[in-house]
Amino acid sequence: MILPKKVKIVEVGPRDGLQNEKTIVPFEVKIELINRLTDTGLTVIEATSFVSPKWVPQMADNAKVMTWISRGGGVRYPVLVPNLKGFEAAMAVRAEEVSIFASASETFSQKNLNCSIEGSLARFSEVIEAAKGRNVPVRGYVSCALGCPYEGRIPPAAVAQLAARLAELGCYEISLGDTIGVGTPAEAQSMIDGVAEYLPLDRIAAHFHDTYGHALANILAVLEQGVATFDSSVAGLGGCPYAAGAPGNVASEDLLRMLNGLGVETGVDLDKLVAAGHFISDYLGRHHQESRQIDVLLLQQNHRVSQPDLHGAG
Ligand code: HMG
Ligand code: MG
Repeated sequence: MILPKKVKIVEVGPRDGLQNEKTIVPFEVKIELINRLTDTGLTVIEATSFVSPKWVPQMADNAKVMTWISRGGGVRYPVLVPNLKGFEAAMAVRAEEVSIFASASETFSQKNLNCSIEGSLARFSEVIEAAKGRNVPVRGYVSCALGCPYEGRIPPAAVAQLAARLAELGCYEISLGDTIGVGTPAEAQSMIDGVAEYLPLDRIAAHFHDTYGHALANILAVLEQGVATFDSSVAGLGGCPYAAGAPGNVASEDLLRMLNGLGVETGVDLDKLVAAGHFISDYLGRHHQESRQIDVLLLQQNHRVSQPDLHGAG
């Protein structure tokens, strides 16, 4: 198995992870989370989104978040923008990178952006033009790359062509999103094959949600093809407000454990990442997924203590 030597992890927890939380998370908690993530060695942390607060109230504190985080040297904090209004608002608080988000499904585009795919591309070209004028890099997302909550399966050619158009417009990297986590490893590989006809692998990222527990298997499958950028969410937080029931992204901790086990470099400190995951899970009152491990260790310990000492018995 030949794998990339290094992988870039794009931490999307503060945005994709929190955007679906029903109760507003105070901005101080978001800032503490982002600062803790900054301290882990991650180089890209998607911090927030400049979308309509009526559509996604959880992200309404975007300007405060961007103003008060402690930006680490060498760390980028991209933010999602759906239109020029969002771009200008992001620029006003010194965002240095933005992400636009198109969908390969017409219905999902309407639900998520209130416009058609073509209409969204027209808005995104305005954003990209404005970004070029300020030397701001733009990342592009393709949602529903492996399935849509409204239309079901999306033709792989539609995904590849949309990715190619976003790249042509000027996105430096395209993140292919399995928004509702329905893809399997073979489908993920076909998706990459299709997009790789238009784009080099170093401009492709993969973004897997984990509905059926396939995310890590999908990552391994496309890692073997040479994809070396993965989006993930600390503590596996996440979901999309316009994809009902969409689960969290693959957990950053799980991704890092797998990459460490494979000897793939990331530059990220697992202990610090786990601590950041505990911090936000505690705040949200969730059982942190890493606790499974701790529970297992405790169980083993208790078991050992209560076992009779058979060796000394005879
Ligand atoms: P619209 O209602 O059609 O917008 O929404 P509009 O242009 O008609 O404006 C309506 C109101 O919104 C106006 O305010 C605008 O000023 C305001 P009013 O006059 O009513 O007071 N407005 C804004 N306010 C703040 N920031 C802005 C902005 N734009 C307009 N940027 C719109 C269109 C795109 C704004 C809306 O549909 C929207 O905000 N959608 C975002 C939805 C979203 O954030 N979804 C989740 C992110 S995508 C995702 O999670 C998938 C991903 O993770 C990959 C994957 O998993 O596949 C990326
Ligand atoms: Mg997502």
